[in-house]
Amino acid sequence: MEGTLHAAIDALDAERLRGRRTMKWSRYPADVLPAWVAEMDYPLAPAVHRAVRDALQRDDLGYPEPDGLAEAFAGWAQRAQGWTPDPALAVPVADVMAGLEAALRVLTAPGDGVVIATPAYPPFFALLDDLGRRAVPWPLRDADSGWQLDLDGLNAGLVAGARAVLLCSPHNPVGRVWSADELRAVARIAERHGVPVVSDEVHAPLLATGARFTPFATVSDNSVTVTSISKGWNVPGLKCALLVAQPATAHVAAAVPERERLRPSVPGVEASIAVWTDDGGWLDAVRSYLDRTRAELAAWAREHPRVRTHPGQAGYLAWLDLRATGLGDDPAAVLLDRARVALNPGHTFTRRAADGHGCVRLNHGTSLPLLREVFARIDGVLE
Ligand SMILES: Cc1ncc(COP(=O)(O)O)c(C=O)c1O
Repeated sequence: MEGTLHAAIDALDAERLRGRRTMKWSRYPADVLPAWVAEMDYPLAPAVHRAVRDALQRDDLGYPEPDGLAEAFAGWAQRAQGWTPDPALAVPVADVMAGLEAALRVLTAPGDGVVIATPAYPPFFALLDDLGRRAVPWPLRDADSGWQLDLDGLNAGLVAGARAVLLCSPHNPVGRVWSADELRAVARIAERHGVPVVSDEVHAPLLATGARFTPFATVSDNSVTVTSISKGWNVPGLKCALLVAQPATAHVAAAVPERERLRPSVPGVEASIAVWTDDGGWLDAVRSYLDRTRAELAAWAREHPRVRTHPGQAGYLAWLDLRATGLGDDPAAVLLDRARVALNPGHTFTRRAADGHGCVRLNHGTSLPLLREVFARIDGVLE
């Protein structure tokens, strides 16, 4: 699988990719190279193709009966993450955001604060706004050794009365895989305040070689995990995710309304069962390709001392601090205009006016040739 998939990725053609109907490839004019929204450009896993094709051949696009979904996830979590979730506490939902919403509705009340580490995936802020919950920013520390959790900052947010922690693990946009020790410290602080942690683990399958992932549920019972195959196997459009409760949070799973359980699609359920059972080595091949794109980013950054970044330990997203480059507060706008490269503007990942300006999020989940073209275009503006 690895050799053929890597060769297919190397051969990706921007013209063909522009034929896709996803926002990544259709939002901007044809001369713009997209390195923004969190999708990879890679061919889908054969197991996904088969599951979707089989559902279509059965004319099977009605409401799902997700038998076997939770068990398939539990089997994968056991093999890949050393975690044994209880399938009886896993509830299907349409997507990760729906699962986070369902959990936060039960665990918090309108007006409550929810701590989120920033920079944060921008829809987290929108979700909390919609739910009438307050986002309590918990800024990460950009240390020379990499991004760090500020445990005193977490404690301060909880002392000030926040009622839940929304953890992103691994973290979008900085790509950190939190260590077991860091997560145990988060769990201790949350438990001291009697506050549950909702852990979004959708990026966890895409671990860099050598990184070790710790499911939050293995360090704290007072937690709810939300996950899916949408990032790992690159199928957010298939609509299927799981909210996985623990014994202490079983009431959260029980409270997920029937209408939400009906929202996953049959192809999404079937593809999830298929890849969680056996994806034929696709994920491993993608992970080893992403090791190479991450290394390419690291090499590019080494040549650009004014660009500050930590290439991360999972996924294909990286935070670039461009404040020393002179591109101003909104380098994404400058680079879209002058480099014809689409990136996510950093200030959308935070709430405090001073944060995120001068930064961008880069998606390196493309082919090495296209990634080199992205860097060459950015170089043309930086020089
Ligand atoms: C951390 C994180 N959570 C949730 C999502 C959205 O997942 P879904 O489309 O399954 O709601 C994303 C998408 O990029 C993400 O990065």
